[in-house]
Amino acid sequence: MSHIPVLLNEVLEIFDPKSGENYIDATLGEGGHTREIIKRIAPNGRVLGIDWDGESLEHFKKDIEFEGKDRVITVRGNYADLKKYGEEAGFRDVKGILFDLGWSSIQLGAVKGLSFNESDEELDMRFEGDGESARDIVNSYKEEDIANIIYEYGGERYSRRIAKAIVEARRKKKIETAGDLVEILTQVLPRRYEGGRIHPATRTFQALRIYVNHELENIEKGLRAAVEVLGEGGKIVVVSFHSLEDRLIKNLFREEANKKTITILTKKPIRATREEIIHNPRARSAKLRAAQLL
Ligand SMILES: C[S@@+](CC[C@H](N)C(=O)[O-])C[C@H]1O[C@@H](n2cnc3c(N)ncnc32)[C@H](O)[C@@H]1O
Repeated sequence: MSHIPVLLNEVLEIFDPKSGENYIDATLGEGGHTREIIKRIAPNGRVLGIDWDGESLEHFKKDIEFEGKDRVITVRGNYADLKKYGEEAGFRDVKGILFDLGWSSIQLGAVKGLSFNESDEELDMRFEGDGESARDIVNSYKEEDIANIIYEYGGERYSRRIAKAIVEARRKKKIETAGDLVEILTQVLPRRYEGGRIHPATRTFQALRIYVNHELENIEKGLRAAVEVLGEGGKIVVVSFHSLEDRLIKNLFREEANKKTITILTKKPIRATREEIIHNPRARSAKLRAAQLL
């Protein structure tokens, strides 16, 4: 697997890492950004690399080699708790914290029920084994709550219709698999859903995934923690891939800026250049926002 880091030059330009500085990579992944930061903070600057996904972290530790890797301290955990991890690792005067949000396609493939093309898979969707699964939600939540989740996190305008169909279907038979849900959706949505541009299940599956994994809540907690952990003049850089995330980041930065804790460095989000998008299509939807601690 080879993951090309998104907006790498832009991230480096904003951080402008210097010898001896300490950084936190809240979403280590394959360390694409971290390895470039590590070079610039040599010989003794360190990076604390956090990732929620144990397999990803093992892959980083075992298979990825670069000079200065021994100065990357890895932690398996949720970036919502980054303050705790920073303290435990003795990271003070942190110069920059990076969030490169989202999941790799390999990670998405490893979680059950995320893909509406894998119809036999259990409708689970949890990246971590605890908490409620998507199956628990569609089989037990009130119709109105299901509709709200699908509307809020999926931007699905047929949310009420879908929620009603889910509740009717589960009276007859428990919804167990991704395929069970896809069947309900295809029956209730217009045949030419969105002019055929996207699968009728896209928005509902996205909404359930975001809800089940508390994705927006984690981003919010992570960003608030980042503001507390940074040293004076330290910077937060966030790369996001869909509009719900970007809106949350924009609003949270504004709120903190009004409190005079940070200043916003990107009036508008930075987008990838055409050249980057040609080499890495994933960069097409990436938006970068940055802020600096006052
Ligand atoms: C897009 S990848 C990061 C890629 C990395 N910047 C690179 O260039 O190799 C995002 C990573 O964030 C991790 N992740 C997602 N949500 C997380 C969370 N709440 N806490 C910690 N890590 C998370 C995923 O497991 C994934 O490895």
